[in-house]
Amino acid sequence: MASVSSFSNAIPILAFLVLLLLGSTSAQLSPNFYSKSCPNLLATVKPVVQSAVNREARMGASIVRLFFHDCFVNGCDGSVLLDDTSSFTGEKNAAPNRNSARGFEVIDSIKSAVERACPGVVSCADILAIAARDSTVILGGPTWNVKLGRRDARTASQAAANNSIPPPTSNLNQLTSRFNALGLSTRDLVALSGSHTIGQARCTNFRARVYNETNIDSSFAQTRRTPNCPSTSGSGDNNLAPLDLQTPIKFDNNYFKNLINRRGLLHSDQVLFNGGSTDSIVRTYSSNPSTFASDFVAGMIKMGDISPLTGSQGEIRKNCRRIN
Ligand code: HEM
Repeated sequence: MASVSSFSNAIPILAFLVLLLLGSTSAQLSPNFYSKSCPNLLATVKPVVQSAVNREARMGASIVRLFFHDCFVNGCDGSVLLDDTSSFTGEKNAAPNRNSARGFEVIDSIKSAVERACPGVVSCADILAIAARDSTVILGGPTWNVKLGRRDARTASQAAANNSIPPPTSNLNQLTSRFNALGLSTRDLVALSGSHTIGQARCTNFRARVYNETNIDSSFAQTRRTPNCPSTSGSGDNNLAPLDLQTPIKFDNNYFKNLINRRGLLHSDQVLFNGGSTDSIVRTYSSNPSTFASDFVAGMIKMGDISPLTGSQGEIRKNCRRIN
């Protein structure tokens, strides 16, 4: 009898140990991971981000996007920062990034400053996570405590980047399934898409929408067509237009107001407000900026938790562009 009851007492303990072993490694991330090993980390990163955004406000948007493109491809492991080598073709020239992803020099400058303060301690993946938060705040968005302790990947995959980052032609189902597969909810999808309140997109990514789609405000469509974005593919492909037509260098909730007015620039923006299940979330964020802010923060923290390398996995890169 005694042995049966001690066995049943052991079950929850065993279950706990199994969960601990199998459990997500993100549990090991913590905002004070470097508080002993690099106490001035945050104060070292912020001024470098600030001066980059002072030079060019759009850079804040580019850095936020870089963090998204890092986390969606094999987790937040700094893989997006690696240059191509003879042994792997990295992510920088994958379709979603080529002629598009930017901000690598800013991450290099932050890394140099951090290496001077605390050599060999802080990962590039964590630097990107902090820089994305700082960029959001500098452009007027909400703040949060960034969880830290990620380590850097020793490899990168162009194919993984091509397969993992949703294209702007995606429909709502494709977007939700991609986000859900990474542990992000449909609400996270809508909140995180709200970062299209800052930054720019290239004609090649909105041409089909402004010429062929019907759920678009006609004067807005006209404004985004010629001369900036000619209808012929291959002409003006890299010409830019703001994702938020009103305040593209301010992190606010205008993106959602645009969607309600059928002025989303990308197909993948407007599908969030097109008579489907996410319309109500868009309406909430458009009329309630503080709900958007808190859901955005929750989404960024969850996105930052995607499959980090921790403990003895990966490495702490010396130079964010190459493995040690
Ligand atoms: C929901 C799926 C998403 C799709 C399909 C998508 C697609 C795109 C595309 C096509 C561009 C323009 C790129 C170019 O034309 O060169 C863009 C820009 C941008 N994206 Fe997304 N995105 C998505 C989600 C996100 C998320 C989750 C974030 C961040 C949390 C984000 C942040 C940004 C930012 C800030 C820009 C502007 C970058 C700049 O100006 O350099 N996007 N996105």
